[in-house]
Amino acid sequence: MFAENRLSPADLIWPLFVTDGDGVEEPIAALPGVSRWSVDLIVARAREARDAGIPCLALFPNTPPDRRSDDGAEALNPDNLMCTAIRAIKDAVPDIGVLTDVALDPYTAHGQDGLLDQDGYVVNDATVDVLIGQSLNQAAAGADIIAPSDMMDGRIGAIREALEETGHANVQIMAYAAKYASAFYGPFRDAVGSRGLLRGDKKNYQMDPANGEEALREVALDIAEGADSVMVKPGLPYLDIVARVRDRFSVPVFAYQVSGEYAMIEAAVAAGAGERDALVLETLMAFKRAGCSGVLTYHALHAARLMGA
Ligand code: PBG
Repeated sequence: MFAENRLSPADLIWPLFVTDGDGVEEPIAALPGVSRWSVDLIVARAREARDAGIPCLALFPNTPPDRRSDDGAEALNPDNLMCTAIRAIKDAVPDIGVLTDVALDPYTAHGQDGLLDQDGYVVNDATVDVLIGQSLNQAAAGADIIAPSDMMDGRIGAIREALEETGHANVQIMAYAAKYASAFYGPFRDAVGSRGLLRGDKKNYQMDPANGEEALREVALDIAEGADSVMVKPGLPYLDIVARVRDRFSVPVFAYQVSGEYAMIEAAVAAGAGERDALVLETLMAFKRAGCSGVLTYHALHAARLMGA
């Protein structure tokens, strides 16, 4: 009766990794309990999520190596894994939301989120042009929410304008507004097959973990450019940022409890240092208390079932 916050499956977004083939499940060693699924099995996951009350999925492709290139052109292919998965889910489970990641790292041969110049520096404006095409490709396939995770400057405004001009005015944008150059993304890069390819780091476009004020500037820019909601990423180590964004702005704030955070909980459980259900629910409650409207978490299905029970 006196609890200030409550958890519900409606707070959860479930990230899923899509892989090529039919009837394929590939467990991801660095993320125990998480697999890549082929499109047919992704549809089965979508049904489970809907039945557990989860309102939205977040999709990430593990692009076959022969489809990766320096310019990430596969991101623009209307029949790439991402678009195929979006269409299959929207066909079979139309009442679940589909959020799609916009960034080139699952498609580039160098694992960076954008295009490189001769020095290997990720160039902002040329990358934004490709991200517009990637966003329109996903919107045409049926994405409900476009989620740019690339951290290029000016991409939210450019994508918003392009969506309006092409009849996709109702597609939302959830901006990865405050995304840090974090050591917690390792298992994700395994999952999308970019860890071994990645040259250098992402510090020339992702944020310095030392900075909080800069996060507020990034959020202000993305909202001014037309973001419908914003995200802070990673999650638990950056709850102060979530709370400051919540206090300062009135758009919905989401947090991404990222792959390294998931892996830490699973490692703690495996080591006997804690109990999974309690750790999962306590960390999710911390996001709610900090002011999140919702959380992207690999524990979503398990958590939703716990909450429903
Ligand atoms: C790619 C992207 C990343 C994540 C989501 N989108 C990794 C990165 O920026 O290197 C990380 C998610 C996670 O670790 O769970 N732009």
